[in-house]
Amino acid sequence: MASKFILTTTIAAAALAAVAGCKGPQAAPDSTATATNSPIDVSTIVKTRKANFKDIAKSNKVAKVALEASTPDFPTASAAAQAIQTDAGKIVGLFPDGTGPAEAPKTEALPIIWQKNAEFKAAADKLIAAAGTLKTAADAKDLAAANTAMAGIGAACKGCHETFRKKDK
Ligand code: HEC
Repeated sequence: MASKFILTTTIAAAALAAVAGCKGPQAAPDSTATATNSPIDVSTIVKTRKANFKDIAKSNKVAKVALEASTPDFPTASAAAQAIQTDAGKIVGLFPDGTGPAEAPKTEALPIIWQKNAEFKAAADKLIAAAGTLKTAADAKDLAAANTAMAGIGAACKGCHETFRKKDK
């Protein structure tokens, strides 16, 4: 059973990079790295992904406030959209096997994430795409398009939460 708590070094590196606030792209999964397993605290992964979602929520708020200002602040909205896109790109990598509710009591992640992983990835891709649409609209200083993109982002959050996150809150 201990193997459940052993994650590959690839995942450990990705998680630690996320902990360090690294904004760079994650290392591509490297199957050769599984030869040396290093133990990593499941709770660290869960904390890291929760913090990533909090960052996403903060950026979403920043974009909303920027666009609702009497003079819309498009550069701020654009930067926030970029941040959402970068953080959304980290989501899937922060849900490695062995970090579901069976192993991590504090997670709100549902087991279906690992059962329907392609759908989960598609839900994350929707957010990446919606954030890209917002960035394009903000860079074009097109308020109507930016507002439509914000609705798309909201739908991407909601769509994923409805299926993949515990509903009791
Ligand atoms: C691909 C799926 C997915 C998308 C897209 C997504 N979320 Fe989540 N979100 C989750 C899951 C799963 C959790 C539960 C994580 C856990 O508890 O381990 C979560 C948790 C959260 C949390 C709670 C973090 C905490 O501290 O416990 C917040 C806030 C949040 N999401 C906001 C958002 C917002 C805002 C968006 C859209 C801009 C969004 N999420 C998009 C799946 C998603």
